Amino acid sequence: MATSDLIFITGSSDGLGLLAAQQLIAQGHRVHLHAKNEDRKKDLEKRITGYQSIQVADFSVVEEVKQLARVLISVGPFDTMIHNAGVYNASAESLFKVNVLAPYWLSVLTPLPRRHIYVSSDMHLGGSPRLDELTHGRMTLTYSDSKLLLLLLAKAFARRWPTVKINALHPGWVPTKMGGANAPDDLQKGVETQVWLATSNDPLASGSGQYFFHKKLRRYHEAADMVAIQDRLIEICSTFND
Ligand SMILES: NC(=O)c1ccc[n+]([C@@H]2O[C@H](COP(=O)([O-])OP(=O)(O)OC[C@H]3O[C@@H](n4cnc5c(N)ncnc54)[C@H](OP(=O)(O)O)[C@@H]3O)[C@@H](O)[C@H]2O)c1
Repeated sequence: MATSDLIFITGSSDGLGLLAAQQLIAQGHRVHLHAKNEDRKKDLEKRITGYQSIQVADFSVVEEVKQLARVLISVGPFDTMIHNAGVYNASAESLFKVNVLAPYWLSVLTPLPRRHIYVSSDMHLGGSPRLDELTHGRMTLTYSDSKLLLLLLAKAFARRWPTVKINALHPGWVPTKMGGANAPDDLQKGVETQVWLATSNDPLASGSGQYFFHKKLRRYHEAADMVAIQDRLIEICSTFND
């Protein structure tokens, strides 16, 4: 390996994030990890070696995310940030805060890395960008909606920061705590795409504003390219009241 990149991975206490961290450390990269609280940090300390630090923040609490961003400014600047943390069985508010708002704040409050990677899901294809209910009315956001909003965020940032490689991916339905023991897809192949997008000089991985599955471009929801929706989402995230 020619360089040792500085990488931050959210949700690296378990599942795909932990696997990605282990692989990137094994490749010689300097990896900062993240756990949602001190107990999960202690669990993580027992499961991995060779990391730089474990940062703690509960993404369902906006002020904790912003405090994390302040810490990351002193730890970075990063070559790559992987926005991997996510929840599935959660309230609409937690789905929005953890799956969408936290990646927003970490992206805008920290110095631009060379690469931003957002872990979305093919379930976003069943979602819709119901933005109005984020600002008024009862929030009924689903997991699928949240992963569509995350893809919209990635597309919006790719337009806003053309010098940064910004991509999103679907890891497959894989056997993690979230995916369940009977998930049909290959866990190793699921993590490969994150790791590849984080470090590869493959021309495909060096593009921006793309959506991948197993290192190949993947069909995505047509709303993700709608600039007016992207801009409105950015506006809502920037003003969302905790
Ligand atoms: N597994 C699948 O089949 C599948 C399919 C499509 C997309 N994805 C996406 O892949 C990503 C990784 O999921 P996974 O399958 O590896 O699931 P996982 O094993 O449940 O890991 C999720 C990670 O997010 C962290 N997290 C959960 N709530 C958090 C909070 N409030 N604040 C901060 N961090 C929090 C978890 O911490 P704790 O361990 O402490 O809870 C864990 O580190 C997610 O974005 C998910 O939506 C997964």
